[in-house]
Amino acid sequence: MPSYRFKIKRYNPETDKKPHWEEYDVEADPTDRLLDSLNTIKWYRDGALTFRRSCAHGICGSDAMMINGHNQLACKLIMKEAQKQAGGKNMITVEPLRGFPIVKDLVVDMEGFFEKYRAMKPFLINDETPPERERLQSPAEREKFDDTTKCILCAACTTACPTFWADRQYIGPAAIVQAHRFIFDSRDEGTDERLNILGEAGGVFDCRSIYNCAETCPRGIDVTKAINEVRQTLLFH
Ligand code: SF4
Ligand code: FES
Repeated sequence: MPSYRFKIKRYNPETDKKPHWEEYDVEADPTDRLLDSLNTIKWYRDGALTFRRSCAHGICGSDAMMINGHNQLACKLIMKEAQKQAGGKNMITVEPLRGFPIVKDLVVDMEGFFEKYRAMKPFLINDETPPERERLQSPAEREKFDDTTKCILCAACTTACPTFWADRQYIGPAAIVQAHRFIFDSRDEGTDERLNILGEAGGVFDCRSIYNCAETCPRGIDVTKAINEVRQTLLFH
């Protein structure tokens, strides 16, 4: 099996003044997922290496990290693809998501991210008495927000955004994607509440259309399209 060198950014706030790199050589099949190699390092070399993961199938969003300079899910990236990203070299760099405080190694503090997510009221708002059966919706109405239902809250988009790096007040693409999912839902009546927040400083007009978010989203969501649709709604609502 080929051997890959992992260069991983480590940081333990209890013992380190600043982050530093550590290297590990790991044998892996080219079709193994990168998460498998991180598990090998943790389970057999260095139990202190700290990272989040859960489903291992690209669904929970917990193992987003910066691999070879790009935000990705470690469980979705196979080794031969990681090597290709590294220009064919067997040196793979792994760092925590940028722009959040580091808790330890690859684990970042996501409380600020989820605070912005909660501000978007990510639930159906409708105070009308519900019909006897379900609230009906046509396929065309459902299609309007289909893309944004796919978000797994991995934060890859927000932490790839230079506007967010420069201005932590900016609500960020992931929260706007969540707002889009409900604003375009014909059953929802909370549009005004969400738009009030999105129209303020730090809201949707802070987006500079850099497109990093759409390029990095592991779910293939057209994030910039969603942001533009929310912007248009805010302008013409
Ligand atoms: Fe992750 Fe994509 Fe959702 Fe952003 S929009 S949080 S990149 S799944
Ligand atoms: Fe759940 Fe990767 S471990 S998305």
